[in-house]
Amino acid sequence: MAQHGTSAWSAVMALARAERPDGSAAASIRPLFAADPERFARFSWAADGLLLDLSKTSLSPAVLAALLDLARAMDLPGRRDAMAAGAAVNVTEGRAALHLALRAPARAGFRVGAEDASAEVHATLARMREFAVAVQDGRLRGATGERFTDVLNIGIGGSDLGPAMVARALWTPAAPLRAHYLGNVDAHAWEEIRPRLDPRRTLVLVASKTFTTQETMTNAALVRGWLAAAVGEAGVGGHLAALSTNLAATAAFGIAPERVFPFRDWVGGRFSLWSSIGLSLAIALGWEAFDRLLAGARAMDAHFLGAPLEANLPVLLALAEVWHVDGLGLGARAVLPYDERLARLPAHLQQVEMESLGKQVTLAGAPVAQRTGPVVFGEPGTNSQHSFMQLLHQGTTPVPADIILVANPAHPHADSHRKLLANGLAQAAALMRGKTLAEVRAEMAAAGTAEAEIARLAPHRVFPGDRPTTTLLLPRLDAFTLGQLVALYENKVACLGILWDINAFDQWGVELGKQLTGPILRALEGAPQKAQDGSTAGLLAAIGRAQSG
Ligand code: F6P
Repeated sequence: MAQHGTSAWSAVMALARAERPDGSAAASIRPLFAADPERFARFSWAADGLLLDLSKTSLSPAVLAALLDLARAMDLPGRRDAMAAGAAVNVTEGRAALHLALRAPARAGFRVGAEDASAEVHATLARMREFAVAVQDGRLRGATGERFTDVLNIGIGGSDLGPAMVARALWTPAAPLRAHYLGNVDAHAWEEIRPRLDPRRTLVLVASKTFTTQETMTNAALVRGWLAAAVGEAGVGGHLAALSTNLAATAAFGIAPERVFPFRDWVGGRFSLWSSIGLSLAIALGWEAFDRLLAGARAMDAHFLGAPLEANLPVLLALAEVWHVDGLGLGARAVLPYDERLARLPAHLQQVEMESLGKQVTLAGAPVAQRTGPVVFGEPGTNSQHSFMQLLHQGTTPVPADIILVANPAHPHADSHRKLLANGLAQAAALMRGKTLAEVRAEMAAAGTAEAEIARLAPHRVFPGDRPTTTLLLPRLDAFTLGQLVALYENKVACLGILWDINAFDQWGVELGKQLTGPILRALEGAPQKAQDGSTAGLLAAIGRAQSG
């Protein structure tokens, strides 16, 4: 297999360093349009109505060919198929990464060793459906006989971000229940949610793969106390359910087995929204919406597993990222959904991408020879335009951006929507096109600006241009297209794990902070301090003074 420094990688890196035959730099975009009037058609692809446009990147035909060679040299198809066949691709934890099975039909026959993963998934889906429908139609009620109006999901990271993002995107006032998400151990989060909830009408889902996560167990205990105060200790069980792989711990917490919705350890937390971790969605949005979400992801998976590499959206997105990160040295990427309903998508993708790809060693444990996952951040447009887009346009650190557009809104305000789309398209065009000093001078002169003023201001008004964007166009935002979109990014992450030869499915980087929290917590509780670094010791002392002052 190709490692960095071998021919396939070398070919990509050589193209990144070299001038193109026409003399333009490898990072420039505008000459590519000048050279090829058909560039948009050649560099955009669709899958089941979702359009990916890479034409506003500096991928030339030669670069794309070299990247596709790299994908083949890294055996991307073979390793993708091994993942789907249930191989233990998460080598450090000896686990499969089989989230594709969560949205596949029962007959798909996904297996992990001797285990029939598809049968297991569908047994849980059937239980989730039965439970969700019983809550919605009032067969399942709270301890005081009231119907549930609100579902509170207590979880963090993958047990929170995905469902919270989807609920934010798809919930409407016509939905069966309201959904709330409590993640942070900061009890200000609970204090903010609590006044909106009536404990007698609230169903609480404790969502934790491990059922040991400090934040979730702390919040679960807080909320359990709140429930008990309202419905009595004996009634609490009727308000609780658990979503977890740890059945011993859910039993110890006092959740009846018929209210535990399991999933297996081959579902990574950040890929788990399709599992029982999505139960809040099935309850609050309705089963049909949850089912359509799975169907959208399933359609993207079928495309990922079946389309040729050169027309495979997740593969192409991953290759563009390799070009940006490794070829051009761009270590960040912005996610800009031009849809307010996708406000939490950047936060969800931050976990999906940064927890997966923030790695420094190969599968074999050797230091990686190239950069890996970029910093991912974002905000919906147009808000982002009035905050950090300045840096993307004129800063010294070019940042590629994903611009997500939705053709048809779910509201009747056509004028607002046209303005939204115009802004998204204009940002991408401006980032690519830029504005030269000569253009700025001419524009100012035409506006009658005095020469001295032109000389003073023109440099500030120059845009370098040639800044790459990737555009994703959805016909509309609904459960199906959202499923497609999220699965596109998940599958892209799997591709990048293969291309960079890293484990995209573990997250050892979160452990050290968790370990150090223990002794610091004990110090805050008043135990004699164990050796801390000077700064931490000083801060603990300052907190102590502030708390007693
Ligand atoms: O701290 C990282 C992490 O392990 C994530 O990978 C995970 O999504 C999150 O914590 C929550 O874990 P759990 O679902 O086990 O509570």
